[in-house]
Amino acid sequence: MVKICCIGAGYVGGPTMAVIALKCPHVEVVVVDISVARISAWNSEQLPIYEPGLDDVVKQCRGRNLSFSTDVHKHVSEADIIFVSVNTPTKTRGLGAGKAADLTYWESAARMIADVSKSDKIVVEKSTVPVKTAEAIEKILTHNSKGINYQILSNPEFLAEGTAIEDLFKPDRVLIGGRETPGGRKAVQTLKEVYANWVPEDRILTTNLWSAELSKLAANAFLAQRISSVNAISALCEATGADVSEVAYAVGKDTRIGPKFLSASVGFGGSCFQKDILNLVYICECNGLPEVANYWKQVIKINDYQKTRFVNRVVASMFNTVSGKKIAVLGFAFKKDTGDTRETPAIDVCKGLLGDKATVSIYDPQVTEDQIQRDLAMNKFDWDHPIHLQPMSPTAVKQVSVAWDAYEAARGAHGVCILTEWDEFKTLDYERIYQNMQKPAFVFDGRNVVDAAKLREIGFIVYSIGKPL
Ligand code: NAD
Ligand code: UGA
Repeated sequence: MVKICCIGAGYVGGPTMAVIALKCPHVEVVVVDISVARISAWNSEQLPIYEPGLDDVVKQCRGRNLSFSTDVHKHVSEADIIFVSVNTPTKTRGLGAGKAADLTYWESAARMIADVSKSDKIVVEKSTVPVKTAEAIEKILTHNSKGINYQILSNPEFLAEGTAIEDLFKPDRVLIGGRETPGGRKAVQTLKEVYANWVPEDRILTTNLWSAELSKLAANAFLAQRISSVNAISALCEATGADVSEVAYAVGKDTRIGPKFLSASVGFGGSCFQKDILNLVYICECNGLPEVANYWKQVIKINDYQKTRFVNRVVASMFNTVSGKKIAVLGFAFKKDTGDTRETPAIDVCKGLLGDKATVSIYDPQVTEDQIQRDLAMNKFDWDHPIHLQPMSPTAVKQVSVAWDAYEAARGAHGVCILTEWDEFKTLDYERIYQNMQKPAFVFDGRNVVDAAKLREIGFIVYSIGKPL
């Protein structure tokens, strides 16, 4: 029986390994983490992450061929294939701060693998890493090898949160990069056989190591670029009377462009787009390609612009001040169907409103009050984009409250900002919300989820992204 160990029981490690365990009953899968709290949650009824379909998959395999453990050394030493799925955040200090990927966690995982291994291993980069990371990892492992043979593979993950299980069941592609040596090819084949249990062979792509590493950064950059492109057009729509949904539909009908990922919004969030583009920018700069670096940096600048533009629109529409006014914020997660708030645009929008002295009442079906307060109190790192404000003062903290439903959040409010596209926001009783709000009552739809015409009939003043007033 092949034994797989995954280091890192996060948003990627947990769901990915659960699906491997489900689809490969003959493989033993153990997910390890240094966080005792995370592992306990994976072993409980309340999993540490909210992801549609995940509970069901975990229930089917946990205790059969899937387990979660903090005994990192034991399981790493016993495994044939080790996935490394630790976090690779942006560096906040030192060389490359604000752009480069922080590989501290990765390096410590690699050193630990070298320390505890007693047999040959295939080490798989699952985390998103800078191109050429495999070379550094190889050096760490082989310099401490004690005669053990290590093969490093790059197998980046393309799942999106909220649809992780669907994406893992039916991936557009699985990408495996390896050394072009007999040992490298054999390792690629071994990993390919794991995925071939449920992924059609023509969807399993094999490349060299550097192409696989760079493809992940490039894919995220392309995806984010589409959003910044449509968001840039949304500003022009508002200035001209065009409707961004109609424009995006017409543009996306071109089969060369395609219809997906063209929804204008308050801006993209999530733990990866910004981090991975900054990482790409840094790699370009290090390789003497400032023009390429600046090209990709612009994707983030437009995203910051979109969030700032949204806040400015709220304040300007409400007679240039929101001081002392209650604003309801519906949705805090960075997208629907997840409780994840990493880099959510809601943080920047709320901080912008609080900066103008609004009182903010937040409702999100999956994000806890604790998480919201922590996110808003956090001091964000600064690169050269000024959007991130200083940490909140104690008075600003008092300006934030968390409500148990949308009606409570909007009670007595002057305006409602919709910042996550949760389905339930489409079907709220807006008549009831309107009755309980201050007048004039504003709705700022940062996700274009409501029927603006219907809301206007009720009496709301509605602002949608990229649409005529
Ligand atoms: P995460 O923060 O949710 O999980 C990482 C886990 O690794 C944490 O639980 C942490 O405790 C653990 N860890 C760190 N160092 C460790 C060590 N030395 N030993 C054992 N455990 C250790 O991160 P994530 O969202 O799962 O992302 C992981 C990687 O996957 C990142 O590189 C990210 O860019 C990439 N990725 C993420 C997504 C996503 O949707 N979140 C999608 C594709 C790729
Ligand atoms: C993204 C990619 O889609 C995954 O392929 C990738 O594996 C992952 O990043 C990663 O590397 O972490 P994720 O961030 O989970 O996945 O979610 P997305 O669906 O890509 O959404 C990202 C952000 O863009 C969200 O805030 C979403 O609301 C926003 N978005 C998305 C738009 O504003 N408009 C769109 O048309 C699509």
